[in-house]
Amino acid sequence: MDRILIRGGNRLNGRLPISGAKNAALTLMPCALLTDEPVTLRNLPRLADVDGFGHLLNQLGASTTIEGSRPEDFGRVMTIRAGQLTSTEAPYDIVRKMRASILVLGPILARAGQARVSLPGGCAIGNRPIDLHLKALQAIGAELEMSAGYVTATAPGGRLGGGRYTFPIVSVGATENVLMAAVTARGSSRIENAAREPEIVDLCRCLVAMGARIEGIGTETLEIEGVAELHGATYGVMPDRIEAGSYACAAAVAGGTVELANVSAGDMGATLEALRAAGVGVEERRDSIVVSSDGKLAPLTLSTAPYPGFATDMQAQFMAMLCKADGASVLTETIFENRYMHVPELARMGADIQVHGRTAVVKGVDRLVGAPVMATDLRASMSLIIAGLVAEGETSVARVYHLDRGYERLEEKLSAVGADIERDSGG
Ligand code: EPZ
Repeated sequence: MDRILIRGGNRLNGRLPISGAKNAALTLMPCALLTDEPVTLRNLPRLADVDGFGHLLNQLGASTTIEGSRPEDFGRVMTIRAGQLTSTEAPYDIVRKMRASILVLGPILARAGQARVSLPGGCAIGNRPIDLHLKALQAIGAELEMSAGYVTATAPGGRLGGGRYTFPIVSVGATENVLMAAVTARGSSRIENAAREPEIVDLCRCLVAMGARIEGIGTETLEIEGVAELHGATYGVMPDRIEAGSYACAAAVAGGTVELANVSAGDMGATLEALRAAGVGVEERRDSIVVSSDGKLAPLTLSTAPYPGFATDMQAQFMAMLCKADGASVLTETIFENRYMHVPELARMGADIQVHGRTAVVKGVDRLVGAPVMATDLRASMSLIIAGLVAEGETSVARVYHLDRGYERLEEKLSAVGADIERDSGG
């Protein structure tokens, strides 16, 4: 089982390339199921979840070929050819390992007129239901039947009719699923209170490049006019705003000046605002952001919210950073019911954090001390890396497979800007 070892105390200086966005890639890949023509995705990150999704697409009968990227390059080019689906089922053993697999439900249903997908089950951060995915699909004509842990969706007559749905709460995945199902419906569809995350905008832009007709991109109301079929396209995955924000937190607390390359600051408003409020220097350039810090941080009060609010995917990383702030910070996690799994691990390193329900009070401490800690979920594992970068002595983070789901070549990127970090494969 791999571990990552960090010896804290180094400042971070230099240029750190940001990869394509995991959460965009995982909704762009299933788009290819909507057409029998090739879809080529550029700037695809080299991540376990992306590989896992590729295997799921293969199981459905689509081929996935990686083109022209040397091992040392960041950003792969993948062409997906779903000329003929050989299966319309996403099995439990795949879906339980990667929740994003549920995003094949809408595309398979739209393409084949029926789909059978395992319910994903919960994960470390919450029970993660898919009721909103199902209600939204029903609203545009899907007939659903649940049995034995699977949902079977059918489009009467083989094609969805379209319709209207207003989400009671914002759901990124459910918005993505119903969008991908609606673009080739017979009629038009109107989705209200849709998620507005940049990854949704990326999805809409890719679908439009494939011939879809979508109005209101980037707003909470999406109008989709169904078209008979979509064609192939080549599309570049957006930069990963969460990866970028994660490394910004690392530089903020370690001190130094790091240029995050290939990012779009426009996607990171709330994160950059919070960094500035903590006293971190943030300079926005054309396609990079320069983060500079002397390691001294002001405490913050932050509450997670759907985009454009402060991202729940940034909560754990900010918490690690604020463990060293000059005062008490208050973080409130409004999106997931159990996203404080990193707290006991940070406490092992000397952090002073009190959790009351959805709120965590983080009292800044003078020093963190390296310790053996365990990753529990993707963003929690990044918070332990960030804490390890400023802790005295050595931190070893176990179960780094969580990290490999969302951070491409993390130890290489951090070493290149001065961190004393390595992967120990013998742990
Ligand atoms: C996406 O998950 C992201 N994953 C998550 O990132 C991210 O934290 C989340 O959006 C919120 O931004 C991917 O894009 C692959 P939701 P998703 O549906 O779509 C509840 C990471 O670290 N809900 O917006 O599953 C749900 O329980 C991951 O990269 C229902 O009740 O999130 C949650 O409380 C973690 N019923 C809230 O809505 C549903 O049918 C928001 O979930 C669906 C969701």
